[in-house]
Amino acid sequence: MAGGAEAAAARTPGPGRGSVPRRLRQILARPPGRPAVRRAGMAALNPWDERFARDEAYYGLAPSVFVMDSAGAIPPGGRVLCLAEGQGRHALALAARGYTVTAMDLSAVACAQLRSRAQALRLPLAVVQQDLGLWSPPAGLYDGVVAVYAHMPRALRALVHAGMVRALAPRGLAIIEGFRAEQCGRPSGGPAEPGWYYGADELRADFAALSIEHLSTPEAVLEEGRGHQGPAALIRLRARRLGNL
Ligand SMILES: C[S@@+](CC[C@H](N)C(=O)[O-])C[C@H]1O[C@@H](n2cnc3c(N)ncnc32)[C@H](O)[C@@H]1O
Repeated sequence: MAGGAEAAAARTPGPGRGSVPRRLRQILARPPGRPAVRRAGMAALNPWDERFARDEAYYGLAPSVFVMDSAGAIPPGGRVLCLAEGQGRHALALAARGYTVTAMDLSAVACAQLRSRAQALRLPLAVVQQDLGLWSPPAGLYDGVVAVYAHMPRALRALVHAGMVRALAPRGLAIIEGFRAEQCGRPSGGPAEPGWYYGADELRADFAALSIEHLSTPEAVLEEGRGHQGPAALIRLRARRLGNL
């Protein structure tokens, strides 16, 4: 199972642990405009957990058409890793297509919801609860690595992108969809912090070791659960690892 190494990495401190400043790690887990940790009685709650606990399909159930179209270039049965995957709309759709999928997310609630949904649908899926700030990416393991709306501070995003490049097997695809800077302040979704948005130059630089097959900045009208609704400024990347890095 492709998730074996990831599951082990999730259980044990990896070499990357401690390489991200503590303050940065605290803000990673925080949806826009929310305190890093809110206390209810004795329990410390991750605000992503609260959000997902209120709605089992916060970003809807349908996967992104761009992601699914791009994934069509991954060989049948290939290993796909979905980062910051939340409640798993892409992981489930990719598993249903026959890929060997590992989904990774910080939120314990989202991971539990995804596990039970996969079980109910009888889809094999490895779900790993993992803070990407502490992720030790395996080398050359995946035929596809997907990150959708994985908005986080720029410094962490750069680390995650480097991890995506490292984790790809030769011919493997990195697939990203998210909001670009022009989205900041629009009501259809996205973080409050301007620095959490993607930019085309940033993606070109972060994925310079790969062959960029697609990079676009479309306007789209989103209908993705209660989380994303209305006209939005998106950015999309598909990039391929051609050989040894
Ligand atoms: C906007 S949601 C997108 C969820 C999913 N990709 C989708 O499109 O439906 C962002 C996700 O990033 C996750 N996340 C935020 N910071 C993270 C981190 N440091 N490590 C792992 N996941 C993180 C959240 O838990 C949340 O599920």
